[in-house]
Amino acid sequence: MSTLPKILVTSASGKTGMHVTAQLLQRGAHVRAFVRKTDARSERLKRAGAEIFVGNQYALSDMRRAMRGVQRAYQCAPTAPNSLHFNAIFSVAAHEARLEHIVTLGQWLSSVDHPSLFTREVYIADLLNEMSPKYSVTSVIPGWFADNYLMVLDMAAHLGLFAMPLGRKDERKNAPPSNEDIASVVVAALMDPTAHAGKTYRPTGPDLMSPDDIAAAMGRALGRSVKYVSISEKMMTKALRALPPANYSEAAVSQLAIYAEEYRRGSFAINAPTDDVLKVGGRLPEGFESIVRRRLAERPDLRPSLAGRLSAVIGFTKVAITPALDLNKVQSDRDYVQISRPKFSQETPDWLKSHAPIKATDMAQRTT
Ligand SMILES: NC(=O)c1ccc[n+]([C@@H]2O[C@H](COP(=O)([O-])OP(=O)(O)OC[C@H]3O[C@@H](n4cnc5c(N)ncnc54)[C@H](OP(=O)(O)O)[C@@H]3O)[C@@H](O)[C@H]2O)c1
Repeated sequence: MSTLPKILVTSASGKTGMHVTAQLLQRGAHVRAFVRKTDARSERLKRAGAEIFVGNQYALSDMRRAMRGVQRAYQCAPTAPNSLHFNAIFSVAAHEARLEHIVTLGQWLSSVDHPSLFTREVYIADLLNEMSPKYSVTSVIPGWFADNYLMVLDMAAHLGLFAMPLGRKDERKNAPPSNEDIASVVVAALMDPTAHAGKTYRPTGPDLMSPDDIAAAMGRALGRSVKYVSISEKMMTKALRALPPANYSEAAVSQLAIYAEEYRRGSFAINAPTDDVLKVGGRLPEGFESIVRRRLAERPDLRPSLAGRLSAVIGFTKVAITPALDLNKVQSDRDYVQISRPKFSQETPDWLKSHAPIKATDMAQRTT
């Protein structure tokens, strides 16, 4: 009988969960993939060899069943409200099931008094996990995913516009990681807990890029000129509500607006890029242009066409007529927990300390 552990992957149909599952299976692990529903994505995971578990991640009874017979798990809260609820359920079930090791997907920005409720919840969840005497933890805290830029790829492909609220066009403020590279770091820690227990990793792409660099990379992949347009936060809320495939709830949009503010403040550039993808994930981090080319290969509808151009113009008009969100109202209507003196990440000394450059001695320890 195999002695390899069984590993639970939550959010297995999501951006990182799909790749964590696939890469674990490639390395011979037994994987139980927790999905919300069966569909083409779960079929793909099943065909690759995963055991599919359908359930609600916010139901403790489902999470308990999902963890039966499992030794390790990937904790990935969906980008949705109530992440502390999800994380608490996960932690309780992991504790009861006496898991030996978990790998959490946290946030680069995670800090104690952050203006984003989602981020404060991630911060608290990380502390709760550290308190567990039963399982060890590896934290993976990526910044702004490369995938976020791909939400506006349709408009770049058909109208030559890369529109996001990222501030000045020439400031290098993010080294975007691919979903696959983030997954490689998660998988390394799941496969070898002894080497990675207690560690925190910040996977990034290879290069710090400006909005102009992102637009140029999209342009090279698309074979057309793409121009960056800095839009207002108000316009971003309209676009996130109006355009598929994002389909974000109002609650999520209110938090994404705070992350865009962090982007403009340069928080994702603090000591980025890192070499965690190479040193931990064991692969060269993928450049942004290659990520775009891969997405284009999966989306033939992004090739130049009259229909595509027409649909982009309709999308543009839909954005223009969609009402903007009053972000403060969204939070107060939902009774979001408020704190009196919120602080962005760089205003928090502990956060700055935790994002300091990694010392050569620490790096040597990581790789031995
Ligand atoms: N995007 C970024 O730039 C960024 C940066 C740093 C950290 N993060 C963190 O990344 C995490 C999200 O990871 P991700 O992007 O890999 O995930 P994701 O793509 O948001 O996937 C979430 C998955 O969970 C499923 N799901 C949602 N609600 C569920 C429920 N109640 N029960 C069962 N399944 C449910 C969704 O199913 P369906 O697809 O069927 O709806 C989806 O497949 C968040 O915690 C966020 O804080 C994101």
